[in-house]
Amino acid sequence: MRIFIIALLLNFKISDEYNLFHKKHLSQIIHLVLIRHSRRVMDNTFENSLLDLSVDIDNICSSLTIEEKISLCSGHDVWRTKHIKRLNVPSIHLTDGPHGLRKQILESDNIGLYDSIPATCYPTASMLAATWNKSLIKEVGEELALECISENVNVLLGPGINIKRSPLCGRNFEYFSEDPYLTSELAIPMIMGIQSHGVGACLKHFAVNNQEKFRMTIDAIVDEQALHEIYLYAFEKTIKASHPMSLMVSYNKLNGSYTSENSYLLKTFLRENLNYEGVVVTDWGATSDRVSSLNLGVDLEMPSSGKLHDSLLLDAVRKGTLDISELDKSVKRILKLAFNTYKSNINPLAIIKNKLMTKNQQNKIRHRLARKVASEGIVLLKNSNNILPIDSRKHIAIIGQFAKHPKYQGGGSSKINPFKIETLYHIAKKSHKSDITYAKGYSLNSDKVDISLINEAKEISQNADLVIIMAGLPDAYESEGFDRKDLKLPANHDFLINEISKINSNVIVILSNGSPVEMPWIGSVKAVVESYLSGQAGASALWDCLIGKTNPSGKIAETFPIDSNKDLASKYFPMGSDMVDYRESIFVGYRYYDKLDSLKSNFSENVLFPFGHGLSYTVFSYSSIMLQYKSFNIDSSKTMNVSFDIKNTGKVAGTEISQVYVSYFSSNKEDCLSIPQKELKGFEKIHLFPNEKKTVKITLDKSAFSFFDRNEGRFRVRNGSYNILIGASSRDIRLSGQVFVYDATSEETPKDTHPNDTNWYYNSLFNEKYISREDFYKFLNKDFPKFTIHSSKFSRNSTLEELSHKSILFKILMFVIMIKINSIAKNNTSQKIMMKKFILDMPIRGIALMSKGLIKYKVIDFLIMWLNKNRWQAIKFLFK
Ligand code: BGC
Repeated sequence: MRIFIIALLLNFKISDEYNLFHKKHLSQIIHLVLIRHSRRVMDNTFENSLLDLSVDIDNICSSLTIEEKISLCSGHDVWRTKHIKRLNVPSIHLTDGPHGLRKQILESDNIGLYDSIPATCYPTASMLAATWNKSLIKEVGEELALECISENVNVLLGPGINIKRSPLCGRNFEYFSEDPYLTSELAIPMIMGIQSHGVGACLKHFAVNNQEKFRMTIDAIVDEQALHEIYLYAFEKTIKASHPMSLMVSYNKLNGSYTSENSYLLKTFLRENLNYEGVVVTDWGATSDRVSSLNLGVDLEMPSSGKLHDSLLLDAVRKGTLDISELDKSVKRILKLAFNTYKSNINPLAIIKNKLMTKNQQNKIRHRLARKVASEGIVLLKNSNNILPIDSRKHIAIIGQFAKHPKYQGGGSSKINPFKIETLYHIAKKSHKSDITYAKGYSLNSDKVDISLINEAKEISQNADLVIIMAGLPDAYESEGFDRKDLKLPANHDFLINEISKINSNVIVILSNGSPVEMPWIGSVKAVVESYLSGQAGASALWDCLIGKTNPSGKIAETFPIDSNKDLASKYFPMGSDMVDYRESIFVGYRYYDKLDSLKSNFSENVLFPFGHGLSYTVFSYSSIMLQYKSFNIDSSKTMNVSFDIKNTGKVAGTEISQVYVSYFSSNKEDCLSIPQKELKGFEKIHLFPNEKKTVKITLDKSAFSFFDRNEGRFRVRNGSYNILIGASSRDIRLSGQVFVYDATSEETPKDTHPNDTNWYYNSLFNEKYISREDFYKFLNKDFPKFTIHSSKFSRNSTLEELSHKSILFKILMFVIMIKINSIAKNNTSQKIMMKKFILDMPIRGIALMSKGLIKYKVIDFLIMWLNKNRWQAIKFLFK
């Protein structure tokens, strides 16, 4: 209230003297004041807004008829919830996210075929993560919320925190990291930022949705330890710390049932263990059995399925198969979300801000923020002979169409329509003092080498002092809806780099991609800059970095393997249409590579760039590690401090991201085959001027020493000695200290600590043997839930692709749909591929949902019976 009055007074004062000030600066100051204030209050905003709620939710709920309650549990259309006029229940608008606002015209599709309103396009999550900057990510969340408010959007569908199990997942660019700790550390500020203005965040995709192929039907089979340590960890931490107002269940199954019908996931883990009180919403079109999902607390079905499920639910209430108390709980949660986020439309801070700033001014601020994020997320992977930063007197040849047609985001539901987009070529041309020449280098629409384009590129490279090649993954390579075949760049990009590096020894490769790529030419180029999918302002951030106006400080939040064959999880990815076995267990990303190396006498050559790697134009030296304890009784002392010094010993100012890894120590390798070599448990980002030294302090708590004990079904501390490793990356460890850790409340049970009974399994893993399904199931404990294998018969979960192989009717149907997609998507390659894959992977039940009940389940079931050759039964069923 206080700030509201001050801001209003300020507003009047400003109006009087408006002309005396420079409009731009004034509004920026006010922007900063408001942001600072909102930051101060934001940590409590969600909790408070729930408590302050003047609307009596219980009363409204009890005034609703059963039909109204049921109707509230499904959307009004693609993006909005229903409103109930007589009780003033507002309809709220949910929209994608997460690295910008993708507000589409109502009733249009949800996968980006149709245009959305112009909005700020920030770098995608891979790059946000490479900043390792929590407060910057919070700022992005805040700005996203403000943009939501001006567009009357109440819930932003993001962030996505699925773990990058394999670098091949087509949607990795939308996710933060292969590491669950880092993922949660970055998701928390993003959600706090979004919710600070009263807009709801929707954490997604819950859970174990780590591939796009078969995403609507695949059953992810995961052991309990991997489930809790890798795949649910970030959800657990993020939910507890940031209270996202909503959570999206994924399309896939987990250990035998759809995540939207998985009792352990929804009831035990989410509602009971985490006490989650927010709204659980389905991913778009994910509903399989609505009665069972509502019984388990999946509150809201999106998008609208018309009245398809209303009658089913009503029937279930009458028969007693839908628990009325569960329905009431869901309705109350939806009402709370609606009233809470609806209030955001009258958020005083946002109103004042909107009043004081024109759209243009707001856009400028957001563009600047997008540039800052890109600046901090750029990762200098290689810089031989300090070729970078570029000398302004040098003649530069810029090669590659991405210099004029930037690849700045991935495809699918997160595709933003940016209000502005920069290009490296134009920015460089404007600012560079010496010659800049340009050649296309490759075609944007084909992977084939075009010799005339190569020759053109060679010609301009011959006389240039240095060559910048813009390479990366074109639209058709990474998107929601499909995965990558391998980690290769298009053949024409690789060929171009090879050819140019033969004639010019000063080649700098700039990569635009959302996840790792192979670099067979790494030895012949001087520098490689990972500029990720850097959003609308990526080009100016990149140029600043190339010329040394900014000093790169980003570090990759994922491992870049030499190629995908070296990656353990990728061996079991994406597997068949029924099941994918997570046979690598917890050994995802660096957890695998580091363990493998620790068991061999020499470093393997599997890793191109390790997790946490990123260079700078300056040099940092690490010293003076101090651990608070030599022996840490986790029971009596809740946390342990670790401190160390970092000094900038180079000539320019720079920022360093230091990382703390915790490593269980045992002299007997066989004893700890199942334990990762080390795990990230803390990090800090600090800025240092030349010669400046700072002390970094990091606090480790119980969770830093805990593992999920499969025998006990809970996290617990493994008593023993631990190395605390301080690194500039996961493979550049600068300091180490040792501590003995024990939990006085729990007795150490050597058998549990060293589960030698499964050593045979880990031995096979690390001897790089292919694990059979049989062995994998032996490794899983006996009580593992039963899973279903698709029979040769069709069911509601059979995909349209499967059906089209067996039925001429579906073949024709697919043909017609593909023609329609071609005509809508026109030249939008990734959207076209994505839409096609989406349709092919869609289970037949999806037709009923997508047609909003126009095509009834009865028709679907009839078709299934018919295709299963139960023709007589099918006819009888149709006329029943
Ligand atoms: C995606 C979600 C997205 C939703 C709405 C789904 O296909 O998986 O991430 O939020 O569509 O567009």
